[in-house]
Amino acid sequence: MFTAGLEMKVGDVPYDVVSIELPDEAATEALGKCLAGAVKKLAGGIRDEGLNFRLEGTLGAGKTTLTRAFLRNLGVTGRVRSPTFTLVETYSALGLTINHFDFYRFESPEEFDDAGFRDLFGAGRVTLCEWPEKAGEFLPASDVDVQIELSGDGRKIFLRPRTERGRKVAEEVGREWK
Ligand SMILES: Nc1ncnc2c1ncn2[C@@H]1O[C@H](COP(=O)(O)OP(=O)(O)OP(=O)(O)O)[C@@H](O)[C@H]1O
Ligand SMILES: [Mg+2]
Repeated sequence: MFTAGLEMKVGDVPYDVVSIELPDEAATEALGKCLAGAVKKLAGGIRDEGLNFRLEGTLGAGKTTLTRAFLRNLGVTGRVRSPTFTLVETYSALGLTINHFDFYRFESPEEFDDAGFRDLFGAGRVTLCEWPEKAGEFLPASDVDVQIELSGDGRKIFLRPRTERGRKVAEEVGREWK
């Protein structure tokens, strides 16, 4: 099921929120494919400006599962490891660099700064960040917040665009999902 609704918080720009039911792991993987399709379509703009995803959700929500499917559908063939211990895993696809982060093990947000991770964001780069809250205000602005909630035996996902570029991505995913 797919729904789009308007949601506003104080200080937010009002973008449509896309919400999708993911009853099983295969659905999460199908969403990863849709996300890859959107990035392929918008690759030109990403080369100029970059694209940042925040992946929010509890332990085992499906952040890494979604990212793995996203990468596979962009043509990444090697092993896709969870960055739990390495903090970041880097891939190449479509002439873009894709940085998959997991900040779970940070003891303080300053570790983001100390590691020089700011340099891994920006033009030509797609970033996907698990446990973004652990990097606090050091984390560059998000284009799309991806929130994964437990829902019965499955999951429910919300795509919350934060920028115009993010809106295009969410809109494309919503269109492809139907
Ligand atoms: N839509 C879904 N419905 C039910 N189970 C799912 C769904 N999507 C993924 N899963 C399962 O949930 C688990 C998700 O694990 P995953 O490592 O992706 O979580 P994570 O959010 O990255 O956790 P962590 O915070 O520990 O890194 C896997 O066991 C996967 O099979
Ligand atoms: Mg993970």
